[in-house]
Amino acid sequence: MIIDELEKIKENILKELADVKDIKSINEIKVRVFGKNGVITNLSKGMRDISPEERPKIGALINEARVLLTDAIEKKEKVLEDEVLALKLATEKVDITQPGKDVKLGALHPINDVIDKLTDICVNMGFSVVEGPEIEYDYYNFEAMNIPKNHPSRDMQDTFFITEDILLRSQTSAVQAREMESRKPPFKIVCPGKTYRNDSDATHSPIFNQMEGLVVDENVSMADLKSMLTILMKRLFGEDTAIRFRPSFFPFTEPSIEVDVSCPNCHGKGCSTCKGSGMLELLGAGIVNPKVLEMSGIDSKKYKGFAFGFGLDRTAMILDGISDIRNLYKNDIRFLDQFK
Ligand code: DAH
Repeated sequence: MIIDELEKIKENILKELADVKDIKSINEIKVRVFGKNGVITNLSKGMRDISPEERPKIGALINEARVLLTDAIEKKEKVLEDEVLALKLATEKVDITQPGKDVKLGALHPINDVIDKLTDICVNMGFSVVEGPEIEYDYYNFEAMNIPKNHPSRDMQDTFFITEDILLRSQTSAVQAREMESRKPPFKIVCPGKTYRNDSDATHSPIFNQMEGLVVDENVSMADLKSMLTILMKRLFGEDTAIRFRPSFFPFTEPSIEVDVSCPNCHGKGCSTCKGSGMLELLGAGIVNPKVLEMSGIDSKKYKGFAFGFGLDRTAMILDGISDIRNLYKNDIRFLDQFK
């Protein structure tokens, strides 16, 4: 009898629901009861075989069972969902009274910091910042800088050669000829970057950084070079910095000078940073040798130039009080952390 069958279905499903532990099993029950081939669905389909007199009564009973089971399933679903949520809330609880975690902030490497400061100052004075290759032709590094092959002045720099004609640039001066070849005067460029020499102790590293500067224009003089470098040094190290120019020699400049600044640590009195002398040697500079201009296709009768080459490691060491240059290239986070 259909009425008994209905009673049995209700009883079984309600019992099953009571034991169900997860949503997946509920979904299975839903399919079994109300699905295409579900027990209630099949009973409804069977209505057409029931006599017209009995149909309203049986129909009402099936409907009643449908409502009852739907209700029971929904209630159980809600209970299970609440349980899942409660568990989630309990396990994912955040204790907002706990101290926060430190966010680790990076910082500029001392060398990059110096490059930023120096290029900022130079850009303010109208210079463009350029780059050149670190693997360079002998021609640009030496020959175009008036240092021919086998010339004794090559001994000033202990160079890493890759082939006879290709080397790791030993000076950023190598960009001078490249820029002179590709630009029309007047121009003002600076080029910071890595340079390489076979040298290693507390004040020399096989990899180091320089910044080259070059100005080519009509009527460029030593006075322009001196005043420009004075402004640059004062902006970098402070207004009270004293600057000293000494005669020197570089094959690519004539005349050549070396430039010292009063020690920013002791202001010229003498300390361990300046080894008691009160002054620090920082760069080479000079009026570009007319031969260098001519080799790169610039008319030396019309144009003159001045150039300078900065040691950036030394500058960083002075500004940050670093005593061993090798620390700059070890990538030791404990060392770098000090310069935040
Ligand atoms: N290139 C030189 C060096 O590494 C530094 C230098 C001196 C650069 C004089 C210049 C300059 O541009 O004019 O020792």
